[in-house]
Amino acid sequence: MTRSPQSILVTGGAGFIGSAFIRRLFADTAFAGKVVNLDLLTYAGNPENLKGAVDDARYTLVRGDIGDQKLVDGLCEQHGVDAIVNFAAESHVDRSILGPGVFVQTNIVGTYALLEVVRKRPSIHFHHVSTDEVYGSLGPTGLFTEQTAYDPSSPYSASKAASDHLVRAYQRTYGISTTVSNCSNNYGPFHFPEKLIPLVILNLFEGKELPVYGDGLNVRDWLFVDDHAEALWAILTRGQVGQTYNVGGNNEWTNIAIVKKLIELVAELKGKPKSELESSIRYVKDRPGHDRRYAIDSSKLQSELGWSPRHDLESGLAETVRWYADNAAWVNGVRSGAYREWIDQNYAAR
Ligand code: NAD
Ligand code: DAU
Repeated sequence: MTRSPQSILVTGGAGFIGSAFIRRLFADTAFAGKVVNLDLLTYAGNPENLKGAVDDARYTLVRGDIGDQKLVDGLCEQHGVDAIVNFAAESHVDRSILGPGVFVQTNIVGTYALLEVVRKRPSIHFHHVSTDEVYGSLGPTGLFTEQTAYDPSSPYSASKAASDHLVRAYQRTYGISTTVSNCSNNYGPFHFPEKLIPLVILNLFEGKELPVYGDGLNVRDWLFVDDHAEALWAILTRGQVGQTYNVGGNNEWTNIAIVKKLIELVAELKGKPKSELESSIRYVKDRPGHDRRYAIDSSKLQSELGWSPRHDLESGLAETVRWYADNAAWVNGVRSGAYREWIDQNYAAR
């Protein structure tokens, strides 16, 4: 089965992954349709993430909440929407520990509102972008498959798990057309600097401490964001209705190894001694409920839809460090005010 969406409602398209997906759509000559980007523009959303990258005649940005059913329904009517890709979410685990309410509201109630609109408009295909964190934590061996039981550890992952369940339940009960993807940790340009990789890069540039939670041996499976965008396009256009696809980079690294790799790359770029930068590593109090290891089996996506990641971690991280070096002033402007307060509050608690 193939779909050729011509009017895509992207929710949360001003965030990190949603903006990469929209940039990819407009860079692809095979896509001639239009994009409506519905984004609440929270602290994590920035329209400038798409500056210069979109075809203005085919792009509309609407500031609004996915929980506003009337607004979403009106946009679907006005733009003849035939597909929704739902990126909109509160996405940071540490924030969910400090304040779960908005995670329940946006990630669960917001997804419910979108599904209610699709229930009334069954010609729309709904793709739900989710996370591997719904599966909980792995021991030293094994991989998450699409059959792994859900076992979320944080309010963030619990809210994503709930939204995944709603999507599948709506598909089975009301027969709407849906797909779900569960992806591992993304990295790359435009990543909001509260997350490990951009935070460490910017702190290295500024000579600040590098906070490493616990013993630094938690493992994440890293994927370059553009590879995720490619996977999402493959699933949106060719994924089987009702199916779930795991997306992962097959790049398992401990946090401390990632930090040391970033130190190496920044030392090279800035001509600084590695030892000086390494002395900035600070082991801080662990994240409560911190999942030990994530690792994804993406063989279903690879064999059914022919996707595979194009970037290895080495070249992807080097590209990311260069991007932050070139855009440091802009990113620092983005992470002012409320972000600084949040960072102080988060680390003061440790
Ligand atoms: P992000 O925090 O960078 O962006 C989220 C976007 O959603 C922002 O633009 C924000 O303004 C918008 N938003 C928030 N609440 C909204 C609401 N109520 N209505 C409309 N828009 C709203 O997040 P991201 O890292 O780009 O993640 C996007 C999606 O991918 C999320 O659903 C996340 O769970 C999932 N995901 C992320 C990763 C990752 O490593 N970042 C990995 C797997 C899955
Ligand atoms: O696995 C997919 C998930 O990846 C997504 O669903 C989330 O939206 C995304 O934020 C990410 O979650 P993580 O919690 O894994 O990402 P984060 O960058 O916050 O942390 C990565 C690892 O680094 C994690 O083990 C916690 C640790 N960490 C994080 C920060 C911010 C530190 O050691 N120090 C830090 O300062």
